[in-house]
Amino acid sequence: MDRIRIVGGRPLVGSIPISGAKNATLPLMIASLLTDEVLVLENVPRLADVASLQRILGNHGVDVMVGGKRPGDSEYEGQTLHISAKRIVDTTAPYELVAKMRASFWVIAPLVARMGVARVSLPGGCAIGTRPVDLLVMAMQNLGAEIEIDRGYVVARAPKGLKGGRIEFPKVTVGGTHTALMAATLADGVTEIENAACEPEITDLADCLNKMGAKITGAGTKHIVVTGVPRLSGARHRVLPDRIETGTYAMAVAMAGGDVLLQGARAELLQAALDVIAGAGAEISVTNAGVRIARNGAGLAPVRVTTEPFPGFPTDLQAQLMALMTRAGGTSHITETIFENRFMHVQELARLGAQIRLEGETATIDGVPQLKGAPVMATDLRASVSLVIAALAAEGETMVNRVYHLDRGFERLEGKLQACGAEIERLSGF
Ligand code: EPZ
Repeated sequence: MDRIRIVGGRPLVGSIPISGAKNATLPLMIASLLTDEVLVLENVPRLADVASLQRILGNHGVDVMVGGKRPGDSEYEGQTLHISAKRIVDTTAPYELVAKMRASFWVIAPLVARMGVARVSLPGGCAIGTRPVDLLVMAMQNLGAEIEIDRGYVVARAPKGLKGGRIEFPKVTVGGTHTALMAATLADGVTEIENAACEPEITDLADCLNKMGAKITGAGTKHIVVTGVPRLSGARHRVLPDRIETGTYAMAVAMAGGDVLLQGARAELLQAALDVIAGAGAEISVTNAGVRIARNGAGLAPVRVTTEPFPGFPTDLQAQLMALMTRAGGTSHITETIFENRFMHVQELARLGAQIRLEGETATIDGVPQLKGAPVMATDLRASVSLVIAALAAEGETMVNRVYHLDRGFERLEGKLQACGAEIERLSGF
């Protein structure tokens, strides 16, 4: 298993290319199942989760061709995937694949919409919570699918096709909104989705589906209307930049000090997070090349933040913000409202000398003048990178173990940070 070794204390100076968004790429790849024509996705990040989903789609009979380097491609240019679901040969998504990457459960929507049947393993919980799929199942039922739970699998049937209907989510669910959108595109009639998630990745999926011939209005708002069509065609779509990667590196610069251009970043995708980082004392400027972040000299001010669905402060940046606040000049409060167990990073940050108390869903962080490097363990994707952020400012060496978690969501993180002067390296084969 690989480890990442970091020696803290170096400022970050230069530029970091922001990759395509993991959480847009996954639903966009799944949307390829809705058509027998080729869907071309550009700016796809090189991530373990993308590779896992390629395997899962392959199990359904989907061909994925990865485009090669083109003249002028930079070192971090995203991949171009040509995805063809011409023939779906298997409508089962097996446990051993779905358990590895929970978003693969979302294949249930295009499979039942296009094939009339889907048998998808329940994904099971994960480190940050139980993460049920009851609302995704409810959405399929409201579009006329018959649902049966059979030995750990959800079996959805709609032999005569799905029917437009009304889906009102009692709580905001990104996956629920993605699956409702995809299923509704081929349903017979009009579907209304109420209390829809407004994340930019939802809008990116809707934009791509409309390019494929779908009729979707209102994506990005809480009320989405989809008019079903008999079939969808292929399309070409560029994945939007990753707002979580952007916020992560912005916090890394705020922590280590320095001046970095986040190339290709779009500030409007994470304005709430950028406002918090600026409030803590970093300087942020938006240029047409991306978002520039700098912090020189002055210390960090404490913050009081609650995670919320978009456009609020994203839960996927909560761990990173906590790492940043371990060095603030005062006491910060971070409340996590989306997941019930998303504080796994607290114990590991404490090993670096952080002073954090947990009361229910609120973490209280008393800033300390200095962290000290130590061996730490990554537990989930975003917790892992919070350890990297802390290590960049810790005195001495930090060894982050189980970095496969990092590889799920951050493309070549150590290369991007090394290029800005960080003392960071990957040690393979332990
Ligand atoms: C997506 O997960 C993201 N994953 C998560 O990012 C992100 O944290 C989350 O949305 C919230 O923004 C991808 O896009 C691949 P939800 P998702 O359905 O769709 C509960 C990362 O690090 N819920 O919006 O699974 C659920 O338990 C990952 O990239 C139900 O109760 O999240 C949670 O408490 C982590 N029943 C809340 O809703 C359901 O049927 C929000 O979950 C579905 C969800």
